[in-house]
Amino acid sequence: MCGIIGYVGQQGHREVLLDGLERLEYRGYDSAGVALRDHEAVHLFRVKGRIATLRERMAGANFTARAGIGHTRWATHGAASVRNAHPHRTGNITLVHNGIIENFAELKNEITALGRVVKSDTDSEIVAHLFDIEIQNNKSLEEAVQSVTGRLRGAYAFVLMSDKEPDFLLGVRNGAPLLVGVGEGGNYLASDVQAVLSHTKKIVYLEDKEFVLCGDKQITVKRYDGREIVPVVNTLNWSADEIGRSGYPHYMLKEIHEQPMGLTRTLASNVQKGKKKLTLSGLEATDAKLGTFNKVSIVACGTSWHAALVGKFYIERFAKIPVEVDYASEFRYREPVLDERTLSLFISQSGETADTLAALREAKDRRAYAASLVNVQGSSIARESNSVLLTQAGPEIGVASTKAFTTQLSVLYLLALRLGRARGTLSSSQADTLLAELSELPFQMERVLGLSDNIDKLTHTLLRSKLWLFMGRGIHYPVALEGALKLKEITYLHAEGYPAGEMKHGPIALIDRASTTVVLCAPPEGESLLTQMREKVLSNLMEVKARGGKILAVGSEGDTELQGLSDAFLGVPRCSWGMSPLVLSIPMQLLAYYTAVHLGRDVDKPRNLAKSVTVE
Ligand code: M6R
Repeated sequence: MCGIIGYVGQQGHREVLLDGLERLEYRGYDSAGVALRDHEAVHLFRVKGRIATLRERMAGANFTARAGIGHTRWATHGAASVRNAHPHRTGNITLVHNGIIENFAELKNEITALGRVVKSDTDSEIVAHLFDIEIQNNKSLEEAVQSVTGRLRGAYAFVLMSDKEPDFLLGVRNGAPLLVGVGEGGNYLASDVQAVLSHTKKIVYLEDKEFVLCGDKQITVKRYDGREIVPVVNTLNWSADEIGRSGYPHYMLKEIHEQPMGLTRTLASNVQKGKKKLTLSGLEATDAKLGTFNKVSIVACGTSWHAALVGKFYIERFAKIPVEVDYASEFRYREPVLDERTLSLFISQSGETADTLAALREAKDRRAYAASLVNVQGSSIARESNSVLLTQAGPEIGVASTKAFTTQLSVLYLLALRLGRARGTLSSSQADTLLAELSELPFQMERVLGLSDNIDKLTHTLLRSKLWLFMGRGIHYPVALEGALKLKEITYLHAEGYPAGEMKHGPIALIDRASTTVVLCAPPEGESLLTQMREKVLSNLMEVKARGGKILAVGSEGDTELQGLSDAFLGVPRCSWGMSPLVLSIPMQLLAYYTAVHLGRDVDKPRNLAKSVTVE
């Protein structure tokens, strides 16, 4: 989950590396470091904490470098300290690493028995030693890759510089992301495209068990066994402007406000205009193939898992196929029953989440058809899927996922319509009507974003709540879960989501005067069942109120009864059943955001978290 970058070329290395690390900082922010090679030596700069501190530390480093590497760390082995910060340097080798070397204890014993001194507590330094041993034995970098990687167990990506081949960087990938940015006056290595996007849009993604020797004018990609690969150069469609904050105080707020645009772009790129039949870009399967599926299995983590829960409602209603939803970390270890009649769907904003990627491989091994829903084109999950559905949210940088979630919901909705058409459970006119609801959504979202000031104000009065419960029913239950996750991850307050009907079975014991319960009670238009449920949710609300708990209700505009029963009320526009999770998600995001701001939290980089979880 760390971020790594390397650069060899003619531009100012210090700036390229620091700028790249700032763009990668969402991947980890416990410590950071840069190594610059000039014509005489390798200069090492390492700090505990953020890139801003590293920038200060490097203020005087005004020399001309030939190559450099950088790292921002999310600690796995060893505490966050300068000693454990990367790059690690030993002998001829300077190295940055992302991932986990599982057999590091055994390797460490071996190298210390050879008289080598290990200076840090990290697994990464061991890899530097292993390379150095090979280089000292007069092996080339390429030869060293073959012997060292044969000894490593785990998922990793690393970039290193060798004093013996000073004009090259070596990048190695197995299980953690690494890409090459092919530039005009030099080449880049990075964990993520955001680190290089302001320099180049030409990207070569390394596959597992591949390495690259990267000079300023050429790159050579090979498999571990020495076979050369002709690199496929992808041209990205993201622009460098999208990775700035555009005047917003935080990426999260910017990304919340980008949702109407993300939705519009996602629709435009996924639904093919002018055709009578509903098609979904990226879904390679024919109607006949879609008709063979007797089960859908959706697998994801975190916010993407909440999207999967909403997807279950859509697909079961519109396509009448049973849907299972799993956490990726559980799916891999529960012997799932899948076969060629299963449509497996893997949802991941980053497309790099280690558990989701491993789950995808598991499903393919079991002969399921593996589709993915990702936001990052060319990511590992996308590359290994049979079909790739793309959200067009644009780069999501804030650790708390917002626009990725709502765009995921929109594609899941489209997928349900597509399956419904292919299987004959929806008529063409029904599908058209349902599709039209989605086109209205960006306008409704804009109206909900207009609640920002109200939410900002009301969070002041709720700041003392020590416990937050979020309750909803039916398709609003996953929104309650997502609301709780957003709040807990960026405010560090205790928050849980529950189906409203479950409160009496335990959670109500938590209610006291120091608690706030967020009640989602906005019955969708034309939904008699959920309208009946409104009465039941109101009863649940009264039960909380009777025990002294504060109520923040999110209901339909003009619902004066609900407003009268609540301590605070947010009214959202009436919308359809399918659109309501998207509309209701926005007040959840804003509530978490403003609460975190008023508590003085680091909104975009909350403690202990990283944006992309590339270790198991
Ligand atoms: O990139 P992914 O969608 O696979 O990430 C999954 C989770 O790590 C992610 O959604 C996480 O829960 C977010 N921090 C939630 O805001």
